Amino acid sequence: MELDDLYRRVIMDHYKNPRNRGSLDDDSLTINLNNPTCGDRITLQLQVEDDIVKQAKFTGEGCSISMSSASMMTEAVKGKTTEEALALAEKFSSFIKGEIAEFDELEDIEALSGVTKFPARIKCATLSWNALRKGIEHQQQ
Ligand code: FES
Ligand code: FES
Repeated sequence: MELDDLYRRVIMDHYKNPRNRGSLDDDSLTINLNNPTCGDRITLQLQVEDDIVKQAKFTGEGCSISMSSASMMTEAVKGKTTEEALALAEKFSSFIKGEIAEFDELEDIEALSGVTKFPARIKCATLSWNALRKGIEHQQQ
């Protein structure tokens, strides 16, 4: 099987069977973000206790890249401290720009590597990660 084919399967799996899709209690940290170029939107909810991201869930509508990336992101941050979650967002930013090739914390994320060649799609892949960053930075204030 071609690598691209394998990557496409991983992305479509997260798109069709999203992990952590849904809502948390109303008092959870809630971030709404959209991609103005296409109208795709995400609502991310985080439950942070003792500085640990206990739960992360999302709803929204968008392309396969934005929604699969959100699914992967919520998987990757669960159980992390807020500092670790911010560091992961930073790492994803380097990864999606093609500066690093591996993502050991969640290998599924490596399936998004093809996106680095398409600047417009980078915005799709980073939508949920930007929501994460915004939520945690807001929480830390
Ligand atoms: Fe809008 Fe991908 S098409 S986020
Ligand atoms: Fe449409 Fe992402 S902005 S593909």
